[in-house]
Amino acid sequence: MEKAYVFVTQQITEESLAIIDKVAYVSMYTGPSPCPRDRLLDEVQKADALFVTISDQIDAQVFEASTQLKIVANMAVGYDHIDIIKAKQMGIMVSNTPDVLTDATADLTFALMMATARRIVESSDYLRQGHWKSWSPMLLTGQDVYGATMGILGMGRIGQAVARRAVAFNMNVLYYNRRPNKEAEQQLGVQYREMDQLLQEADFIIVLTPLTPETKHLIGKKQFELMKKSAVFINTSRGPVVDEDALLHALKSKQIWAAGLDVYEEEPISNDHPLLELDNVTCLPHIGSASIATRVVMANLACQNIAAALTGKQPPTLIP
Ligand code: DGY
Repeated sequence: MEKAYVFVTQQITEESLAIIDKVAYVSMYTGPSPCPRDRLLDEVQKADALFVTISDQIDAQVFEASTQLKIVANMAVGYDHIDIIKAKQMGIMVSNTPDVLTDATADLTFALMMATARRIVESSDYLRQGHWKSWSPMLLTGQDVYGATMGILGMGRIGQAVARRAVAFNMNVLYYNRRPNKEAEQQLGVQYREMDQLLQEADFIIVLTPLTPETKHLIGKKQFELMKKSAVFINTSRGPVVDEDALLHALKSKQIWAAGLDVYEEEPISNDHPLLELDNVTCLPHIGSASIATRVVMANLACQNIAAALTGKQPPTLIP
């Protein structure tokens, strides 16, 4: 039987490649990210499997260009960039990488919250730019984290991992989820609130809900109006969950105190993006899961999904 063909849209390690090398011929795009669209459209015509990341739009056009595609293995947990409905219609499997990035993403979320609350990036810039002339009582003062109230929107795996960290900071943790998560309530002592109530009570609002048609612009003008003036708003899930114009307005008009963002409505943002003009925003380039170990494990898992699909086995983390 002829060996299968796999196209990998980003450079991954030898360790990960070895997992698919055993069962297929592999071609890998090694240029600057993202993989050019025409290369992807060309490769998918002959591919049995695609290894993709969130920089690749795997839409109906990609699926329709395929002739023998069995699986799209996504090196990410979020899959809003993949047309799942089209994949299902065409009988093509799609997998993601849940669990393995939960703690790395929760660490980054917590770090971003701390950095935003205590103005870490702004303070570092202040010093580097030579503004530090003397200690003074209210210089670069921020918000207390220890013992404050955290409100988590989305109590899935990452939401629970963030809550676990918050408990160690003696925080009062509230959450909103489509369905109340009784297990998390029992294990972590988190308390369910309707969303509007949570927005009014929380000192730190953490967005951790996946992007779906229902969650697009879940947070907009009305929601920012409900938040405290001292609120710190953090988004490490997906940009379009938040109406960015409404967020900009809330930050500029000091309706909320600050925001920490790892994700944006359009990525990457340009360096003249209006958010970057504001002092009360900490912006990161979508690095939630970016620890060295986690990124290797994510790539390995995506490759394991491909290897399984190409050898007639059940891929370990197939999207149902
Ligand atoms: C994900 O996994 O969905 C992240 O956004 C990228 O690691």
